[in-house]
Amino acid sequence: MTDNQALTLALNAHYAPEDVSNRILAAVRVAGLDPQQLSRDAAALFDEFHGGGRESTRTLARAVGLASGQRILDVGCGVGGPARTLCAEFGCEVTGVDLTHQFIVAAKLLSERVGMADAVTFLHGSALALPVPDGSFDWIWSQNMLMNIPDKLRFAQEMRRVLKPGGRCAIEAVVAGTGDIFYPCFWAAEPALSFVATPEELRATFTQAGLQEQAWVDTTALVLAQGKRRLAGLLQEVLASDAAPTPLGIGVLVPDRVLDKTRNALRNNEEGRTRTIQTVWLSP
Ligand SMILES: C[S@@+](CC[C@H](N)C(=O)[O-])C[C@H]1O[C@@H](n2cnc3c(N)ncnc32)[C@H](O)[C@@H]1O
Repeated sequence: MTDNQALTLALNAHYAPEDVSNRILAAVRVAGLDPQQLSRDAAALFDEFHGGGRESTRTLARAVGLASGQRILDVGCGVGGPARTLCAEFGCEVTGVDLTHQFIVAAKLLSERVGMADAVTFLHGSALALPVPDGSFDWIWSQNMLMNIPDKLRFAQEMRRVLKPGGRCAIEAVVAGTGDIFYPCFWAAEPALSFVATPEELRATFTQAGLQEQAWVDTTALVLAQGKRRLAGLLQEVLASDAAPTPLGIGVLVPDRVLDKTRNALRNNEEGRTRTIQTVWLSP
């Protein structure tokens, strides 16, 4: 088995230790909602799997001025929340790609349940061998996937291959600060699955691939505020009586140690061990 295959298996076990779609449908029922007719707002309580939730997707989309009709490839799309947001709120034509097959199945299911089955496309595949033709997208979009990629140069080269000339990448990622990172994290339960670059490493790698930096914004404050809301919601769930409906939250997608991961995300950011950035790069 190659290192890449071993990493793929380990990431699959990390992100989908049990049937993701069934878990989502069960959680929606327990929350007292109809899984046949879900609203996008209800799904957004768990389907935007990154620190800032849907607000950070909107922030980045507004900042880069996404325009109606633009073709976007969301790399590491998860269960498709960001792809649906970009399609429904910004009028973009979005294709999502993810390594975790069960996330792609769930992305299609959720799109159907929120009435967007034909609006977005989801493909199973890797960021390092994107299953799309050369020069076919205006934008690469990627939120909180980069920390699972050891070979960032190859990812940057793939982005250049599939972007049209003049196309751009909008990337949100956790980057290294100062000091060791506390695990488990949302993207990796242990350091073996985690490849968090420093800002300097990321800039050097993207530049080496021929990409040109357009913007670099630290969004740690937004992520910290969302993390505090998440933690409060999780603690409320723990304290809720058995009879009360359990509210939807990120725990729908994270069966293992969600409280520890939420606390570590807060602590890593508060102590400057990690930062979250949104950055934009041009492929000339
Ligand atoms: C923290 S989740 C973020 C999901 C989504 N971007 C979002 O914000 O809702 C990270 C995602 O990256 C995906 N991923 C990790 N390595 C990947 C790779 N090499 N190619 C494609 N997707 C990958 C995982 O399967 C997971 O869905």
